[in-house]
Amino acid sequence: MRGNVLLEHAERFAKPYEISKKKIDAAVEKALDKLERSIPKWSDSFAKSCTVNFAYPRGTNSDWVCGMQTGTYWLAYELSGNRRFRDIAEKQLRSYRDRLDLRIGVDDHDVGFVYSPSCVAAYKITGDEKARQLALDAAEYYYNTSYSKEGGFILRGWNWENAEGCRTMMDTLMNTPFLFWAGKAANKQEYIDAAISQQRITEQCLIREDGSSFHHYQFDPKTYKPLHGVTWQGYSDDSCWSRGQAWGVYGFPIAYSYCKEEFLVNLHRDITYYMLGKLPEDLIPHWDFEFAGSTDAPRDSSAGVVAVCGMHEMCRYLPEDAPQKHIFESAAAQMLEAVIDHCAGEIGREYEGLLCHVTHALPQGLGIDECAVYGDYFYLEALMRFVNPSWNRYW
Ligand code: GLY
Repeated sequence: MRGNVLLEHAERFAKPYEISKKKIDAAVEKALDKLERSIPKWSDSFAKSCTVNFAYPRGTNSDWVCGMQTGTYWLAYELSGNRRFRDIAEKQLRSYRDRLDLRIGVDDHDVGFVYSPSCVAAYKITGDEKARQLALDAAEYYYNTSYSKEGGFILRGWNWENAEGCRTMMDTLMNTPFLFWAGKAANKQEYIDAAISQQRITEQCLIREDGSSFHHYQFDPKTYKPLHGVTWQGYSDDSCWSRGQAWGVYGFPIAYSYCKEEFLVNLHRDITYYMLGKLPEDLIPHWDFEFAGSTDAPRDSSAGVVAVCGMHEMCRYLPEDAPQKHIFESAAAQMLEAVIDHCAGEIGREYEGLLCHVTHALPQGLGIDECAVYGDYFYLEALMRFVNPSWNRYW
């Protein structure tokens, strides 16, 4: 039964909380200054997903994070009106057509991360029709290649003829907004039905009774029968990987905004209460909630900023008397202030990203306590939401 998860340490978020305008403005100014200085490095390359010794290695437009690098410049342009940010975003945009046509990194569940904050954003901000058409073409490819009609879910995206590929995962919740957007824009009901089916399968298979989540869920590749939860970036199959949980905290409200399926409201409350209840004193999530309560396990501040965006988004749709609304408002403000104070200030050395203390993929040994492109993007999006609460999201 959904809607039954109790919030641990509810007293922390019981009172309204406000971040001072001065603090938000200073954080935005610092981020924009860093981004403006980064422009020359990225005028002919893209950042790889996470920093190595706090510097981003150069790559090409082939990774799932590239869309968020372009999206960070779009956010910076909207926050400042500075033409240099728009120019670099538009310069990066040129490679997205080839990326789709040459099938570079698009046989993957993360295609929405690539095309929403780059091309959909370009269309929403500047009315760029070519960017809109490209996003629609990418959505068509994504739907045709990644969605399993038999299973009713988006496949993990590689080796899906093998057992390991016949999985779906929490990350996909931030890709289904792309299907919702394209379904609405191109009047393709099948995309919308697929996106809704993804929410239902996630509810049935990936979200546990206590509101925590499996990272992946394995299905039988012949019968599509649900088998068991699995992890990839988390601590264990039975633990709860914090960024996966955060993708749900943001993904479900966006799905709700498009389809208004009521089951999403209680589901969202459960997973968000679970996450809030597992936060340490300083409100920066551990990389996996298995380590809630430990003092030295690495953190993943990106999970925190994604959740801030998700709680802010859900508050747009909740009535004033919904008990979770005031909790979400207070928690979002406190969590954003925590990352401003602990992850975007001095850490005793230079770091190239906007946000430090991100853990990219600990079991794979990648980006532990570093910066990551998605951390930077969602940090700036969270700031944008506090500067302009009615901001028109890219997702
Ligand atoms: N692929 C999404 C993530 O690593 O969070």
